[in-house]
Amino acid sequence: MKKQVLITGGAGFIGSHLANELLKNGYKVRVLDNLLEQVHGENGERPAYLPKDAELITGDVRNRAAIRNALEGVDVVYHFAARVGVGQSMYELQEYTEVNNTGTAVLLEALIENPVEKLVVASSMSIYGEGLYQDASGKHQEAPCRKKEQLKQADWEVHNAKGEKLSPVATPESKTPDLASVYALSKYDQERMCLMVGNAYNIPVVALRFFNAYGPYQALSNPYTGVLAIFASRFLNNKPPLIFEDGQQIRDFVSVYDIARACRLAMETPEAAGEVFNIGSGKSYTIQEVAEKMAVVLGKKYIKPEITGKYRVGDIRHCYADISKAKEILGYTPSYSLEEGIQELAGWLQDQIAEDKVADAKEELEARGLTV
Ligand SMILES: NC(=O)c1ccc[n+]([C@@H]2O[C@H](COP(=O)([O-])OP(=O)(O)OC[C@H]3O[C@@H](n4cnc5c(N)ncnc54)[C@H](O)[C@@H]3O)[C@@H](O)[C@H]2O)c1
Repeated sequence: MKKQVLITGGAGFIGSHLANELLKNGYKVRVLDNLLEQVHGENGERPAYLPKDAELITGDVRNRAAIRNALEGVDVVYHFAARVGVGQSMYELQEYTEVNNTGTAVLLEALIENPVEKLVVASSMSIYGEGLYQDASGKHQEAPCRKKEQLKQADWEVHNAKGEKLSPVATPESKTPDLASVYALSKYDQERMCLMVGNAYNIPVVALRFFNAYGPYQALSNPYTGVLAIFASRFLNNKPPLIFEDGQQIRDFVSVYDIARACRLAMETPEAAGEVFNIGSGKSYTIQEVAEKMAVVLGKKYIKPEITGKYRVGDIRHCYADISKAKEILGYTPSYSLEEGIQELAGWLQDQIAEDKVADAKEELEARGLTV
């Protein structure tokens, strides 16, 4: 018989791609999602991109009855429902803590009563804070987040105690978490709570630390999510993308299709139980490079990215994934290059009407003293 899978937050960007991946591979998919206005717009309708064979239950993860109902007959759970804005989490503290932390607690209490074969929880690279670095001699070093005083002087790079500049290296799962936002704190909480409770009640749990996901269906109208969607939204409105600091900060952009496959592998691989995996591309790009690549693909080369020299509270300088553990245990190999991914994203974007709320979001952060 086909396995029944539940995806909380499955009407969102990554969840809907996972739904597709699972349906294609012979699983039955149910989604529990409250169709949050910031992601899905005012009407709260079923998103057109959600595969029609996916069953949708509209409900909140904090609601015990909704969770119990959604768990009926379920073999495997993916827990993706979350508030996802790093900046927004620094002033909507209660909302982020309620949805992300309490929502996970409500789900876990229901799973203690109705255990499943596996629980896969979406964690995040944001829990690392700064990625891993090395000094001039090649010795690896963990570095604390940069202090405001340093950033005020537009001194963007990470230094060791002797003041020497450190260079980024791929970040493995063993890097000590350094939580720099309420969002990061809540993702770490979700990850730990799931692993801890799973261990206590013999529910196999896998935590996947996603790096910067991109691809079709990422909410362009949500100014708090992925940088590629934000840049695309600006380009489509013939405005330059706004780049913080000097644009040389490094990130790891991973195609949502690769993430969806990694999620399926996490369910299908028995050895993954109890483990944490980085899910990234393993490649590093500066934010400026990414903006410039996108301008070319969208035919907007004449729009030059605006390097603002400003910074956001909680932002890190460099982080990209060491994916060797996912390669070895899950058999995960990213198959999309950033160029291919942007091309494909561009194809989808042509049909989108991107409402640009980025300026509003920027003003909101500024008004709260969260950007300098
Ligand atoms: N997109 C990324 O780059 C990225 C990176 C790291 C981790 N993650 C994690 O992956 C998961 C999915 O992220 P995404 O990018 O698809 O975000 P998304 O905002 O597109 O999807 C989240 C979904 O959760 C739903 N949701 C929000 N609050 C809810 C609630 N109280 N009850 C039920 N549903 C609720 C939303 O309606 C939305 O459909 C999240 O847990 C996120 O923290 C995403």
